[in-house]
Amino acid sequence: MSKYLFPRSFYNPSTIFGVILCILAIISMVFLLMINTFNPTGSPYLGIAILLVLPGFLALGLFFIILGIILQNMRTKGGKIERRLPVIDFNNLRHRRGVGIFIIGGFVFSLATAVGSYQAFEYTESDEFCGTVCHKVMSPEYTAYKASAHSKVGCVKCHIGGGANWYVKSKFSGSYQVYSVLMNLYSRPIETPIHNLRPAPETCEQCHWPRHFYHEKKRTFEYFLSDEKNTKSSLTMLIKVGGGNPLTGNQSGIHYKMNIENEVSYYTEERDKSIIPYVVSKNVSTGKVTVYKSIENKVDEKKISAQTLNRMDCIDCHNRPAHSYGQPNFLVNNYLSLGKIDTNLPFVKSIAVDAMETYYENIDSAMAGIQTIMKRFYSEFYPDVAKTKYQAINNAVADVQNIFQHNYFPQMNVSWKRYPVNLGHIYSNGCFRCHDDRHVSDDGKVISRDCNLCHVMISQTTPVEGTRENASGLKWIHPGNDMGEYVGRKDCSSCHGVKKKSESVAKD
Ligand code: HEC
Ligand code: HEC
Ligand code: HEC
Ligand code: HEC
Ligand code: HEC
Ligand code: HEC
Repeated sequence: MSKYLFPRSFYNPSTIFGVILCILAIISMVFLLMINTFNPTGSPYLGIAILLVLPGFLALGLFFIILGIILQNMRTKGGKIERRLPVIDFNNLRHRRGVGIFIIGGFVFSLATAVGSYQAFEYTESDEFCGTVCHKVMSPEYTAYKASAHSKVGCVKCHIGGGANWYVKSKFSGSYQVYSVLMNLYSRPIETPIHNLRPAPETCEQCHWPRHFYHEKKRTFEYFLSDEKNTKSSLTMLIKVGGGNPLTGNQSGIHYKMNIENEVSYYTEERDKSIIPYVVSKNVSTGKVTVYKSIENKVDEKKISAQTLNRMDCIDCHNRPAHSYGQPNFLVNNYLSLGKIDTNLPFVKSIAVDAMETYYENIDSAMAGIQTIMKRFYSEFYPDVAKTKYQAINNAVADVQNIFQHNYFPQMNVSWKRYPVNLGHIYSNGCFRCHDDRHVSDDGKVISRDCNLCHVMISQTTPVEGTRENASGLKWIHPGNDMGEYVGRKDCSSCHGVKKKSESVAKD
């Protein structure tokens, strides 16, 4: 019996190095797998290491093993380089062992690779991978997603969808994204809308049937003004969501008019689509085409062609289905109406909104800043309240900090100002980008902004007028200072939205 356990060609530096590499990789994998089993919610980097990096080392080790054997076989032929395959002699115990190791090893390795690459595939598709690996970059989207109606719908369902070609596309752009994060090249916030988002019919419409009929959706809003008493008012309205299928409901409402009866297309020169100067509406059944042009924003019509027109789809209204960042008035109103923040604290609405709207460098300075602003306000202007309502003030501070953490991301310059929601018309121009009575067709039709076109206001309570109700629609009263007709004609977002373009561009 010779002193060699395996064929002679196994004994060379490259193969031995390969074996060591493989053993180390396997030990690390087992070790990390154990950690992962005991602490499955641990760091996402663990997943990357187990599923992507260590198998790479394992494969590298195997490569060195095989390379060494091949080189060794070439070398030993008496100085001459001779290309020939190793001769396997099954009567030789060492050869039998070598082949045995190869077959068993190969089998285990291919099984592990098959299972592993499937797991690696699943892993790179998981919300954890998308949302937390580049933690700082994606934390706004991930946090907002977790709070959205789609928190149980994977990121990839909207961002990639089925089919191999989008998978490959996404992994290509994904590799660039990883690179840009490592090299610190990415923009803060991430530019939106993102280029080549998959068209809505291939994503949203896989789960939502556009023709499904939704009845009117009833919504009640409660408002608290920014005066000392946090004066309350409320509004209930029916939003005419509608749809278009005689089998399941009517053919009416917003979805029917905008998606099914008409094919609406528009032209815009802004990446964020905030200004829409030119709109084409084609009635699907009659084929009648109506062109509406803004009387304020003119465009060079030579630039408009079938290629530059965008067909309106779900995302032109639902632009933030999974990543919506709340406007502070709206968010604080909700907390006040639930009684989470004490409405007896003087000016609490106003001071809470101001504290959030201050510019902060990072989340730590925001937490400290909110506390200082709110506490100082009460100790300076309401010293008695600061004492008697000490606990209520502390709770309010904690609530405002909590709201802030879920809606503002100073590190990425993300907030409602940078990512406005188009489903409405108060904090951004949304529907009023077209529905402003100032988009006119040649025959004098306008895209209407009648207050009962999209919703019916059935009940409103204001301090002055009390409660008024009317099932077929009320005349709306502006809850702020009475600004009468002036408010009626102006775009709501000119006062309620982001003030100037320059203000919305936070410092980097
Ligand atoms: C319901 C569908 C949906 C899901 C689920 C979803 N997204 Fe999005 N996401 C969108 C849409 C639509 C946009 C484009 C917004 C726009 O055009 O203004 C977007 C935009 C983004 C952007 C660009 C920045 C921005 O906010 O506009 C990032 C980054 C992003 N998503 C990451 C994620 C991550 C990470 C997840 C999972 C944790 C996820 N998304 C889940 C629909 C979705
Ligand atoms: C993988 C399936 C899936 C996809 C893809 C999907 N959704 Fe949804 N969506 C859901 C589910 C499930 C709910 C209901 C959640 C609930 O009621 O708790 C929902 C709820 C909604 C709601 C109502 C909830 C709310 O926010 O008020 C809207 C609006 C919506 N989706 C729009 C979209 C849009 C727009 C897209 C495409 C960008 C999309 N969805 C893609 C599954 C999906
Ligand atoms: C013209 C704008 C517009 C377009 C285009 C549009 N929607 Fe909507 N959709 C709305 C409005 C407004 C609501 C009511 C929102 C609310 O009050 O929460 C709504 C509500 C919904 C709801 C929720 C219904 C409920 O009961 O809460 C779903 C789901 C939905 N839309 C899916 C879609 C899908 C899918 C598409 C694309 C095929 C689409 N929408 C296109 C404006 C639009
Ligand atoms: C890109 C421009 C554009 C945007 C943005 C837009 N609309 Fe429209 N909308 C139109 C056009 C054009 C028509 C008229 C179609 C026709 O009759 O020629 C219309 C018609 C409608 C109608 C039917 C009006 C009627 O006469 O019965 C409703 C309801 C409606 N839109 C709701 C909405 C809502 C809600 C939003 C915002 C979430 C919205 N639209 C955003 C262009 C737009
Ligand atoms: C083109 C459709 C459309 C027209 C026209 C329209 N609205 Fe709206 N409005 C909406 C949608 C969509 C929402 C968002 C509902 C939601 O947040 O779910 C909304 C929300 C509102 C809200 C409550 C929003 C909040 O967050 O407090 C008020 C108040 C309101 N509209 C007033 C008006 C008034 C006043 C007019 C007439 C000048 C008007 N609307 C015309 C579509 C329309
Ligand atoms: C000329 C400026 C201006 C215009 C235009 C305007 N508002 Fe206001 N709005 C105000 C002011 C100022 C307040 C009072 C804010 C406060 O006391 O908190 C207010 C308050 C409100 C509130 C209650 C405050 C809250 O907590 O959210 C609502 C809702 C509202 N406005 C809706 C609208 C709608 C809808 C439109 C468009 C039809 C509109 N506003 C147009 C200036 C304006």
